[in-house]
Amino acid sequence: MTITESYEFNELQSEIDALEVEDLKVGLVINELIEFLSSPSEFRELFIYLSAIRDLLVTNFNHEEVIMNKIFYKSRSAHAKDHNSLLEQLDGLVAILDISRNFSEVDNVLLIQFITKWYARHALHFDGLLHDYLNMLNNQHQHNG
Ligand SMILES: [Fe+2]
Repeated sequence: MTITESYEFNELQSEIDALEVEDLKVGLVINELIEFLSSPSEFRELFIYLSAIRDLLVTNFNHEEVIMNKIFYKSRSAHAKDHNSLLEQLDGLVAILDISRNFSEVDNVLLIQFITKWYARHALHFDGLLHDYLNMLNNQHQHNG
């Protein structure tokens, strides 16, 4: 059995599309959070954004990990390890923010920098490579029928 036989015709394309939609949603909420931080009102709202981002990420990470296992993706354990590390960093951030309990003790610029770098590194490196690989498989799949 070849890797692409794990997926029926067009199924791989649907997975790629679904991952792209998930990535878009994460990006949108991160952008909303950054906008919110440029003129924050209620401190409580910060946690609503962070928890929405966490929920979207957990869904996306689980989805990617199912796909990576299914196709025996070579870097799947390193990729999954980075997912866990991202969630740990996010939880660590929430814990620190929770201690400060008000905006006057939070450096918004630092927070924006943290959030931007925190996810961009993973998206550009790990997710970029996975998406390229899936697209390559999908092209092979479509050509071989
Ligand atoms: Fe990922």
